[in-house]
Amino acid sequence: MALAPSDLVAAKRAAGRAAAAYAGDRYRLGLGTGSTAACAIEAVGRRIREEALRVMAVATSSAAALLARHQGIPLVGLDQLPELDLAFDGADEVDRYGNLIKGRGAAHTQEKVVASVARRFVVLIDTSKLVETLGVVKPLPVEVLPMAAYPVMRRLRNLGARPELRMGVRKDGPVVTDQGFWVVDAFFEDGIHDPAGLNAALLGIPGVLDHGLFVGMTSDILVGNPNGTFQHLGIQRS
Ligand code: A5P
Repeated sequence: MALAPSDLVAAKRAAGRAAAAYAGDRYRLGLGTGSTAACAIEAVGRRIREEALRVMAVATSSAAALLARHQGIPLVGLDQLPELDLAFDGADEVDRYGNLIKGRGAAHTQEKVVASVARRFVVLIDTSKLVETLGVVKPLPVEVLPMAAYPVMRRLRNLGARPELRMGVRKDGPVVTDQGFWVVDAFFEDGIHDPAGLNAALLGIPGVLDHGLFVGMTSDILVGNPNGTFQHLGIQRS
C-alpha cells in the first residue's frame, strides 16, 4: 500500500531508530544503502553523540560511507572487520520467507557481501515493500561486466525476463556502479517463483558480478509505521 510522502519518511525513521537500538557497545556494524538505511545510519550517529556508543562499521557503498563519515561513525574495510555483529539495510521487496529484491540504488553487490558476514542481518522497510511474490512489480537488478551486458541480456530473456540496461538520470549513458560495472534491470512480470533456482542460474552466467536477489539471508524484518512505532515481522521458514 502506498503511503503519503510525509508518512513514508516517518515510517523509515521509525524503522531506522529501531535498527540503531539493536546496536550494542563495541558492535561491529554493516551499514546499508538507500533512504531507509540512511535513517538507521543517522540514528546510530545520534547514539554515538548522545550515549557515547562505541562502534566500528563497514559501509555498503560510497553513499553510505559519505553519510557515515558525516555522522561521525568510524569506518573500516572488511580486511579489518571480516565478521560483523549486525548489518542493517533496506529492501525494494520482501516476501514472507524474508527473501528480498535489492539494488534500486545499484549497491546490491556490496550489500550482499556485507550482509553475508554479519551474524544478524536486519531488513528495514515500510509496509509498501511487502509482497506476496517477488518481482511482479519491481525489477531484479543484475550487476554486469560492461562488455558482457548484451550477452547477459540474451541469457536473461531465456530465463523469462525482460532486461533493460539501466541508464543514468543526470548522466548520459549507463549507470556505473561503485565497482565500475553496469546494471541490467530484469523484469519478471509473472513474478519470481523459485528465488533459490534463479539465484543459482544468474550466478552461472559469465559476466554477472551479482544480483539483487537475497535468498535466506534475513534474520529480522522491522517494519516502520508512520506513527513512529515499528513491528518485528515473523519470517516463515519453509
Ligand atoms: C540500494 O542499492 C538498495 O538495495 C536499497 O537498499 C533498497 O533499494 C532500499 O532503498 P530505500 O530504503 O531507499 O527504499
